Amino acid sequence: MTEKQYGGSTGRGNGEKAVTTQNLDTSKSLPKQKTQKDSSQKLGTSKTDKDEIIQAGKIASQVRVFAKSIIKTGTPLLEIANAIEDRILELGGNPAFPVNLSIDNIAAHYTPSHEDETLAKGLLKVDFGVHIDGWTADTAFSVDLENSEENKKLIKASEEGLNAALELIQSRLGRAGGAISTSEIGAEISKTIESHGFSPVINLSGHGMNQYELHSGTSIPNINDGRGTELSDGLYAVEPFATNGSGRIRDGKPSEIYELISEKNLRSPIAREVLNFIKQEYDALPFCSRWLIKKFGTKALFGLKQLEENGNIHQFSQLVEIAGSKVSQAEHTILIEKEKVTVTTLEL
Ligand code: CO
Repeated sequence: MTEKQYGGSTGRGNGEKAVTTQNLDTSKSLPKQKTQKDSSQKLGTSKTDKDEIIQAGKIASQVRVFAKSIIKTGTPLLEIANAIEDRILELGGNPAFPVNLSIDNIAAHYTPSHEDETLAKGLLKVDFGVHIDGWTADTAFSVDLENSEENKKLIKASEEGLNAALELIQSRLGRAGGAISTSEIGAEISKTIESHGFSPVINLSGHGMNQYELHSGTSIPNINDGRGTELSDGLYAVEPFATNGSGRIRDGKPSEIYELISEKNLRSPIAREVLNFIKQEYDALPFCSRWLIKKFGTKALFGLKQLEENGNIHQFSQLVEIAGSKVSQAEHTILIEKEKVTVTTLEL
């Protein structure tokens, strides 16, 4: 799942609510294993963290293969999303966020609603995440569902942008004394995508991840953004987007994908009940109305409305290319340790 940039250092400017863990009251009622929210909780500090990161990646690779096998032109997006999320659970993982199934000019953050009737078509981006104990494997691929040469070229451009970025990171950090800055990675991605005659989407980016934190603060841009943070050991999603349009996205319709931002008090009993469930099940990771309806029925929608109005949850927008042009995406997760780079989500 991608991170939107507005030119601020965090990508959360322009009125979008800051979604930081500091806003969360991580006290008493959170289950024990989910309370490690302070920034001192970094991966690599325990063997278990690494095992969970690797295991989440293995499940994600298997689910990628499975997802590719079930997606056909005309398959309902709702059916695809449910099948992918069910498969993640069957393999022992948890969905780290609702499966994003974004068609053509929608670059990201489209997940089917509980009664969605949209059918798979065009240039479809499939972006999903698997977490184990909050450690996430985030991966995406694109498929051409209308036998279009242009779609195929766009898909190749984002895939090669991703491969070039991963190779560069590997060559720099897979040895002693190596270093690389995020803007060098962005430069490599944009150079590769442009060599295919397309533009990278400049205001979407990859992101660092931490436990129960999908966007930990570090952005991995798809262009040379001139900021150049040096990449430190950690877990990162690299996700180039290629387009035959302007290279920029804007907010579209509400996505029905949310995340918890505050546990402040509520009057409505149903809203409180929904909030408690969100805390318990998803913590600070994104979730969607479709999941809550499975648990509470359609009264979940009322609860979500209350939670949004009260400022407890933030709703993501769908992200659309500003010129209405097509967008492709490719994404893998990497674990950077001392002199070692592991792509956790590679298909085996
Ligand atoms: Co991502």
